[in-house]
Amino acid sequence: MIGRGLSNGKEMRLLIAGNWKMNGLAASLEEVRALLRGLEGRPAGVEVVVCPPATLVAKVAAEVQGKIGVGGQDCHPKPSGAYTGDVSAEMLRDAGASWTIVGHSERRQYHGETDDLVRSKAEAAWRAGLGVIICIGEIEAERLAGKEEAVVDRQLANSVPDGAATAKTAIAYEPVWAIGTGRTPTNDDIAKMHRHIRKVLVARFGKAGQGIEILYGGSVNPKNAKEILAQPEVGGALVGGASLKAADFLTIVAAAPA
Ligand code: 13P
Repeated sequence: MIGRGLSNGKEMRLLIAGNWKMNGLAASLEEVRALLRGLEGRPAGVEVVVCPPATLVAKVAAEVQGKIGVGGQDCHPKPSGAYTGDVSAEMLRDAGASWTIVGHSERRQYHGETDDLVRSKAEAAWRAGLGVIICIGEIEAERLAGKEEAVVDRQLANSVPDGAATAKTAIAYEPVWAIGTGRTPTNDDIAKMHRHIRKVLVARFGKAGQGIEILYGGSVNPKNAKEILAQPEVGGALVGGASLKAADFLTIVAAAPA
């Protein structure tokens, strides 16, 4: 692995993923081209992934030609079948994706996704040969009640399959109240939660738990990216709104510690 050293002395590559959510038409490929131009000659210590809507996965994959990663935003647990409107991990892979997000809070909130379902989606992603970004994070009432670690513990225990020890996996800590609001936890609170998640992963997976990237997500923008990415155990970012404009996303990628 290449990239920066972690507290345990292990070298790990930073992962910066853009989640376009339900945004983007064919014209958005211009942003992808601008992103590729801006990334030319960048240091190899950052892995950049774009997760467009499913309709654009094949187009974006054709555009980027493997120079950056392409991911889905969700996948069905089954490889195929009578599930109208759903997209399987195999279909994402076939369209050129190498990653998918699962368990995003917007899926949990608007589609009633449970930890058990999220776990089966993560397993489906690996079955298809995709890396998976599993999202967790508390809602505001849970943080105000001091329950954020308990919530994250439950989500980690139930949404993250045992296979995370060996399959390509990142955890995205996205406090729901920070998504799309312009509000973020303090740097200390981010560091505290990421240390906690690392502890939980190591307790469960042993040494392999050190190698799982822990991304921060929730109102990451060109101004705050540098300090967030510099926090201990922050292994990258999952970026929503600020990933839609190549210039903003490039500034965030450039903010990654060398
Ligand atoms: P914003 O960066 O728009 O807050 O979204 C974060 C997010 O939900 C990424 O998955």
